Parts: sequence; structure tokens; C-alpha cells
Amino acid sequence: MDQDPKRYTITAALPYTNGPVHIGHLAGVYVPADIYARFQRLQNKDVAFICGSDEHGVPITIKAKKEGVTPQQVVDKYHGIIKKSFEDFGISFDNYSRTSAEIHHKTASEFFKKLYEGGKFTEAVTEQLYDEEANQFLADRYITGTCPKCGNEEAYGDQCEKCGSSLNATELINPKSTISGNKPILKETKHWFLPLNEYEDFLKQWILVDHKKDWKTNVYGQCKSWIDDGLRPRAVTRDLDWGIPVPVEGAEGKVLYVWFDAPIGYISSTKEWAAREGKNWEDYWKDEKTKMLHFIGKDNIVFHCIIFPAMLKAEGSYILPENVPANEFLNLEGNKISTSKNWAVWLHEYLEDFPNQQDVLRYTLTANAPETKDNDFTWADFQARNNNELVAIFGNFINRVLVLTDKYYGGIVPEPATFSEIDEQTLNELKAYPEVIASSIERYRFREAQAELMNVARLGNKYLADEEPWKTIKTDEERTKTVMYVALQIASALAVLSEPFLPFTSEKLKNMLNFQALKIQPTWQNIATLSPPSGEMPLGRGGHKIGKAELLFSKIEDEQIEAQLEKLKQTKMDNKVEKVTDKSSDVSQNDGQTASAEIASQKPTIQYDDFAKLDMRVGTILEAEKMPKADKLLVLKIDTGIDVRTIVSGIAESFKPEEIIGKKVTVLANLAPRTLRGVESQGMILMTENANGKLVFMNPGEEGVANGATIN
Ligand code: MF3
Ligand code: ZN
Repeated sequence: MDQDPKRYTITAALPYTNGPVHIGHLAGVYVPADIYARFQRLQNKDVAFICGSDEHGVPITIKAKKEGVTPQQVVDKYHGIIKKSFEDFGISFDNYSRTSAEIHHKTASEFFKKLYEGGKFTEAVTEQLYDEEANQFLADRYITGTCPKCGNEEAYGDQCEKCGSSLNATELINPKSTISGNKPILKETKHWFLPLNEYEDFLKQWILVDHKKDWKTNVYGQCKSWIDDGLRPRAVTRDLDWGIPVPVEGAEGKVLYVWFDAPIGYISSTKEWAAREGKNWEDYWKDEKTKMLHFIGKDNIVFHCIIFPAMLKAEGSYILPENVPANEFLNLEGNKISTSKNWAVWLHEYLEDFPNQQDVLRYTLTANAPETKDNDFTWADFQARNNNELVAIFGNFINRVLVLTDKYYGGIVPEPATFSEIDEQTLNELKAYPEVIASSIERYRFREAQAELMNVARLGNKYLADEEPWKTIKTDEERTKTVMYVALQIASALAVLSEPFLPFTSEKLKNMLNFQALKIQPTWQNIATLSPPSGEMPLGRGGHKIGKAELLFSKIEDEQIEAQLEKLKQTKMDNKVEKVTDKSSDVSQNDGQTASAEIASQKPTIQYDDFAKLDMRVGTILEAEKMPKADKLLVLKIDTGIDVRTIVSGIAESFKPEEIIGKKVTVLANLAPRTLRGVESQGMILMTENANGKLVFMNPGEEGVANGATIN
């Protein structure tokens, strides 16, 4: 790869059109991708920043069924809302398409056909899960069950969202149809498979060797573990009536698997854009000198690093991504963001409550970006970032500079006299920032980059505080002119350097500084080069007339924050009520977390005999240790009074092994044993949750209860 590529294809994950977009989407994918794309454009690179709506897949059909409308109606509605949210927040896509577009159907169909005709697929009649009551095969999210890798009981037929594993539906333990709730049967059906196993060597070399050093550790780590586990053929077709029909004979009633068609959406969206702009789309997909990047969330890693590259490789004429900068997840006030539980800050709602304050949200999300671990968005932090950083540092500096320039010089940039050592030093420091910020952005460290941007404003504030032009104006006019001149240069640098992060603010600031009237436009590059001693500076050598100060940021009051917290509290209460009235299953993506403090409805009546079958007794935890490579599991040795046995329990996120040794617990002793990660678990520990969602042991409470005592 060319060290300094001229052309960039930057893709951002195509959002599913089964709901609006929220802060988690923005923080994880779209803001970082936008910062990167804007930055590269400022470096005069040829950028195609590509996205669109992902309109196929099971969740959309489930949503349509639930609402009594057609899938097309569902996607039309959300495509509009999502597209508008992105525009409103300044996400500067060059093209935003949709996978129901004709160009996409055609592109995906042809892609499939090319692989089919090239003999790249294997064909097999396999037994798939089938719902006898609903009379249909159960694809992916129509099935839930226990993850064979981590024991999560709410894994989907294609993926476990707890451990991130990509699954085949038939691997799930205790599968259940989400349509009828029944246990599905196995029924034969024919499908086409991409034999990923045949791409193992290629993927090993490409990821584990070629990109070992430059991919983020979370991305590299996930890829390595999949490859180490061994790759298996993966079905690329489904029995479903919503999607792109499989374009071969004998495939009636079958469509392309959504994860086969969706990433091809990047290609079709590029084609749509190129046709409109008079460009050649192939330059952006087939030229080795183009740098291709996929911005995604962590749940998309396998699809973008393993499956899509294998598809591109199989096709043969495409380039591969240079990097796949995936982020972790953003939580909201300590709980996982959930579309179905409405636990989210929706972008369209944010703008109703904070009109024209897009940059405040962009800023907060970047400052707190889940780059290396999951992070939490809190309204208190949002307020603090705005009031203590944007208002107090950035806004304050700009305001002082513009107000003083207006007051002292009627808004005309003064001509400097001689620069003092401090001036030279300050300007030299300023000159270094374009490079410093660029280097962080190039390494996908957007929080760090934005923190450096704020340091430019800090530099300005410190300079003014030290040089005190409001004092020297009474004693030394020449000195004051020089100080204001330097301060104005810092302000103009902020206008340029803030553009990727705070595009609306940057635009306003450029107008305030009247950039339009300048002969030489200040750019990322010339901030570093146009400076003393030659005397050429971004704002010229005096005489340029700037505009009036406008407020860039305004204080966010406590009441505004309280109103947001109140809204969330209401959501929590609504969820409690819904939980007892609505038992429909959660089919949202990536956000299936159970909010804390929910009350489950009563289960159907059972007879005493049913209860009597349960062998529950008191036990003591003798030993506890972490299950290797499993975040949630502890391996416990329990004295049950009748024996000492091993129980694997999914409580590792709530307890440290050492803090539970000696604890009295309730054991379901006659549960059929099952093997988790190669360890046989002989029973279950009964748990409940406290009001904060923390796990709590159901311990017998009373003193003097012996191990082995039964619970009747
Ligand atoms: N719709 C998927 C999600 O929201 C992302 C699709 S990305 C693409 O998780 F590559 F398939 F387009
Ligand atoms: Zn799992």
C-alpha cells in the first residue's frame, strides 16, 4: 500500500432500518467515520464516504409482522428518519443509498451469480430449524437459544451478542422459535455455502501476519480467535420471503442472506454516487492504490474482517480493506442501550430538546468514545463537557478575541509590531498542532485528537491570560496589537482544525472571522507553514476585517439535564408496566439487555408434582475460579451435603472468585448436567437481582441451616 494514498473509500456500517438511530450509533460508527472523512478531504484527498440503509433481514420482517404493515413500509419509514438524522448531525456522506434500491438488487445478484458460476459455492441439502406451527423455516433471528460458546441463554440463530461469536442456528442449545415459542423441528432444505474453511490460509496471512501491527487489538483479537477456532462453510442463502431472490434455478422462495447482500451495499452505493458525479466506481473498489476502510461497531467485526473479505477474494477483482476500525459499545446511564426498551437518546429527539446543538453531542460522544472499551454516556458528563470545556475554554477564548478586536480596532485585524519570545514560542506551538492532531486521527484515536484540538484553545486562553491585552491597551498600543494579532491567528487555526470534530462550530467561526474575504484560505497545511519569519499568516498581515462575535456555545442548565433524567426514569417505569403486559420477544439487534428493576410476569400455573420434581438444597461454595477465556463464567465447587460437585455459573461479571468462597447458596441439584467450555456443570445456583441489576445469591438466610437441607 502506498504510504500516502490519494484516494479513500470510507464506509460506515449500513444501519438496519427497523428503528431510528441513537447516540450509540453516532458514537460507535458515524462520528468517527465522519471525522476521518472530513479530515482526509481537508488533506485534499479524493474521498468516497459511503453509507446507506440495510433494509433486508429478519428483524425487519418481524417488526412488520408485529405492526401489521409490510416490510417495505417499515424500511421506507426508517430510511427517511435515519437519513435525516445523519444530515442533521453533519455526517458528510458522499452517498446514502439503500439496499432495496434497484442498483443494489442488481449488484448483489450479479455478485452472487459470478461466485456461483465460478464454482465458489458449495451446495448442500441440510436440516434446518423449522416451525411447524408457523409453517416456515426459521432463519437467524427467528430463533433464540443458549450460546454453545458462552452459555448466554438469549443468543440468536446467527450470532451471540454476549460473546460476539458468529453461530449457525443449529448449534444453539435449546433452540426456540420466536414466532410461536415452540421448539423447532429439523427439516431438509437446500442452500448455498461459502466455504470459509478454504479461505483460512488467505485470512491468516492477511490478518494475522500482514495486519497484526496496524489493526486495533480488539479487532485483531476477535479475528484471531475465530481463525484459531477453525472456519466452517457458511450459508449465504435463506428460506425467507423478504430480500434479494437467489438468482439461480431451483431457488424459489429463497433469498440472499442479509449479511451477504448488505456489505455489497457499499459497492452499490458507490456505483450510485459515481454515476451521479461522473466518476468511475471501480477506481474506489479495484485500484490497489485506493485505501479502503470500514468503520463499524464491534458486533460487525466477523462480517467485515472474515466473511466480506472472503467474498471479495472469491470474486477476485476487488481490493481489501486496509483497516477496520471497530468501536466497542456505548452505554447510557449505566445500562446497555436498547431500542426495544427505548433506553436510548434518539437523535431526532435530542434535536428537539437541544436545537442547533449538534456539535455539543458530537463533542461529548467523541470525548467519551468507546474506542478501547465500552463506555458510558451520562447527562451529567454531557453538561460538564459543554459548560466546562466548550463554553469555558473554546467559546470563552473565541469570544474574548472577537470582542476585544471589535472594541479596540473596530473589527480590523491589527498589524503586529515585533514578536516577543513568548509570541514566537506560542506561534511555534500552534504550528505543531496540525501535525499532532493529524497523527492521532490517522491512528483512529479520535478522543486523543479532539483533546489536542482543545489544547489549541487552551493555548489561546493561556496566552491572553499571560499577555493581558486588556491591561496593555492602556500603556502600550503596539504590544497590544501584536498580542491581538497572535490571538487572532490562534482563533483562525481553531476554525480550521475544529472542522472534522465540530463542523457547525467551524463553519460559524469561519464566518465570524470572515474567511470569505481572505485571499489565501487558511488550511490544515498552511497553519503549519505560513507563519513568521516570512510574516505570512492565515489571517494576513493586518487589515482584514472580521465580523461580529456570535455565541458559539451556551451554558446547559441543571433543569435541562434533570428533564432528560426524568425522561429516562419514565422509560424505566414504562418498561416495568410493559413487561407484565407484553411478552413478545425482543428481536432488536445488539441491544438485548434486560434493564434492571423489571418485574417479570407470573408464569403459567404448575401442579405440586411439577414442583416436587425439583431437588433444591442448601450448599456452600468451597472453591471458585474463572473459566479461562470466558468473561461471564465461574467454575464452582459446591458442597451440597450429599456430595461435592462442579457447577459452572454465569456470575463472573458480578463476583470475584475470592469474595464468594464460603457463601451459602441454594442449589438446583437434579438439573440435567451440561457441558460448558468442556467443563461439565452438575446443577445450578439460584440467583436473583437487586434493584441495581446486580446479581444476588438466593441464600437460606437463617443461621444454622446445614448443607444438604432441602427446600420444600
Ligand atoms: N445493519 C448492520 C448492523 O446494524 C450493519 C451492516 S454493515 C454491512 O449491525 F456491511 F453489512 F453493510
Ligand atoms: Zn456467546
